[in-house]
Amino acid sequence: MKQDMIVILDLGSTENTTVARQIRSLGVYSEIHPHDITPEELKKLQNVKGIILNGGENRVVDGKAVDVDPALYDCGCPMIAIDHPGARCERRLESLPDEAQMREFVFDTCHAQANWNMKNFIEDQVELVRRQVGDRKVLLALSGGVDSSVVAALLIRAVGQQLVCVHVNHGLMRKNESESVVEVFRNQLHANLVYVDASERFLGKLQGVADPEQKRKIIGGEFIRVFEEEARKLEGIDFLGQGTIYPDIIESGTKTAKMVKSHHNVGGLPEDLKFELVEPLKQLFKDEVRACGVELGLPESMVYRQPFPGPGLGVRCLGAITRERLEAVRESDAILREEFQRAGLDKKVWQYFTVVPDFKSVGVKDNARCLGYMVVIRAINTVDAMTATVERVDWDVLQRITERILAEVAQVNRVCFDMSPKPPATIEFE
Ligand code: XMP
Repeated sequence: MKQDMIVILDLGSTENTTVARQIRSLGVYSEIHPHDITPEELKKLQNVKGIILNGGENRVVDGKAVDVDPALYDCGCPMIAIDHPGARCERRLESLPDEAQMREFVFDTCHAQANWNMKNFIEDQVELVRRQVGDRKVLLALSGGVDSSVVAALLIRAVGQQLVCVHVNHGLMRKNESESVVEVFRNQLHANLVYVDASERFLGKLQGVADPEQKRKIIGGEFIRVFEEEARKLEGIDFLGQGTIYPDIIESGTKTAKMVKSHHNVGGLPEDLKFELVEPLKQLFKDEVRACGVELGLPESMVYRQPFPGPGLGVRCLGAITRERLEAVRESDAILREEFQRAGLDKKVWQYFTVVPDFKSVGVKDNARCLGYMVVIRAINTVDAMTATVERVDWDVLQRITERILAEVAQVNRVCFDMSPKPPATIEFE
């Protein structure tokens, strides 16, 4: 490792990530570790220049105050304790340090160098992956999402043709999405890419299924089966690449914090398909993953794309999916994205998409009453997807999108804009 590191030990703080990000924003690498790390484990971490004991509201577990292994106090590294009254180090703060205090600790006390940047990170990871993988092969499910795309680009740089990417098109991708995965990875980055068009298979399984959770189960389950079938066709694969990122690991829970959600990866592969994991992004926050992708030369449209649910357009073609309505969702979504980009809203709005309900409404065409589908536009902003507010989209932009959808998308006679925040509405419709 080239980078100096400040280690944050979690003594029950709810703000470990804030502290880690504060340090990284100074250009110094930082990692969060559990409070009961042993002196041996600490020694294995390279270039540790300082330690922060990060206490807080969860510092008492089962009635007992948690503390670090006493031997750590003698490890020779500069230490600071935040909101941790029992700490045996000299420097204690009652609350989070401000920038000046943090700078003083990191640079003046610890003498850490500000050498955390994506170029160094990539060089380090390339070396680590090469060491881990040797001349063996790595398999990667490449969905085209930000994380899997960045992992793919990094692994291509590290092991080239020893990486086999499998892209499964489940038929619920947005317009031109699978095509752009093939274009970028096969044609531009020369990846060893297996493209599987499983659209018919997925649509067949989903036929007549209206319950959203059932639809999700079918799409998720089928995805694993298709991926497994492809994995079995390939020989001599020992590793599975994964786009695990730092929040996935932190949210799996620490010893002093309750588990937020279980950290499951591609999960669900059968027991006899055993792979060792390669997770080169597991220390990065989302914005760092994007910066890493840009540094690796991925197109901005791929790196800055909005979140897209795993079940894809399958949960935006409401109720039982039909080809006709799926096409209406896909085409209207493409128009929305094009017009949002033209209006400069694509970088401003967190998530925006269209939905097509499973009923028709009355319209009029050539002086005659006729039935048509309805397209609902949703555009929301959020920080963590737990709550969301509606973007105040300019009326002219909405009007242009409406006109285009009515003119270009077959069978649609009505366009609505969803004004509902979350809660009470969720971001998706199902
Ligand atoms: P809701 O609809 O729950 O959505 O307010 C919150 C965020 O999660 C995304 N979402 C999903 N992502 N698989 C995913 O990978 C899913 O089944 C799924 N359902 C919702 C949604 O797009 C939003 O960003």
